[in-house]
Amino acid sequence: MRLETRAFGRTGLVVPAVGMGTWQTFDVTGTAAEAGARLVVDRALSAGATFFDSSPMYGEAERVLGLALDGRRAEALVATKIWTSSARDGRRQAERALAFFGGRVDIYQVHNLVAWREQLDLIDELKADGRVRLSGATHYSASAFGDLRRVIESGRVDTIQIPYNPLERDVERVLLPLAAERGIGVIVMRPFAEGALTARQPPASALTPLAPFGVRTWAQALLKWSLSDPRCHVVIPATSKPERMTENAAAGQPPWFGPEERTLVERLAARR
Ligand SMILES: NC(=O)c1ccc[n+]([C@@H]2O[C@H](COP(=O)([O-])OP(=O)(O)OC[C@H]3O[C@@H](n4cnc5c(N)ncnc54)[C@H](OP(=O)(O)O)[C@@H]3O)[C@@H](O)[C@H]2O)c1
Repeated sequence: MRLETRAFGRTGLVVPAVGMGTWQTFDVTGTAAEAGARLVVDRALSAGATFFDSSPMYGEAERVLGLALDGRRAEALVATKIWTSSARDGRRQAERALAFFGGRVDIYQVHNLVAWREQLDLIDELKADGRVRLSGATHYSASAFGDLRRVIESGRVDTIQIPYNPLERDVERVLLPLAAERGIGVIVMRPFAEGALTARQPPASALTPLAPFGVRTWAQALLKWSLSDPRCHVVIPATSKPERMTENAAAGQPPWFGPEERTLVERLAARR
């Protein structure tokens, strides 16, 4: 079965349900490490997980992702970010990213809402030039969700990127309902709580009720937990291991969980 694709809100773009993040995992240098990153991207592309997220905040990650996509950029959707309070540095970041990604960024986001009005002016300009398709804003912290709400209400972004996992559910109160109402594309970061959730695996027997949903591993249960909320469009787990990319992508297929299965995953995630 192929990975599910979803309408990305009302943006007109269709995205795979599972993509990939690059924080830490792609911040590498040297031939061997860069070849390793390319193997992860190989697996992602062959599984249909063609959505890749990066940022200038992630060290070498944009450059390494660009290299890994060399010769097959057209198969991918690239989401990256502007992360600076300076208009001049923003422009410099955009020129670098556009050079890494074949002259096009599919989704250009303002990282952590830093100088969001000014950086959205730049992103709008790049959209008008045809070098960017969609604009977005991201934040990892619930303390900034009031500001992220105001950004959505300003009507200036097509997408948001937010954390969502069984231990971080603040987005359910305002952001997910508002995004759904406005037709905003929703990218889910941190599905494993930066690895804290995958570090504590429940016993394999606890996952038996999830087997009819195609779940074989705890990581798949967590990914399916977020994707079973139809207001989420693409989840972007990061991994440095090619086989885990295949495992993660397999969670992006129906059937989706109902309330009972989601509650089971929440209970397992809360165990110490
Ligand atoms: N964290 C943030 O604050 C933040 C902020 C903005 C954007 N983002 C974006 O969201 C992406 C995802 O978030 P994240 O990287 O913070 O954390 P995450 O995806 O929740 O967790 C990543 C960790 O999970 C492990 N992992 C991946 N697949 C696994 C599997 N199948 N089984 C067991 N462990 C597995 C990885 O280790 P291995 O490498 O060993 O597989 C890695 O340590 C980022 O890469 C970035 O693009 C994150």
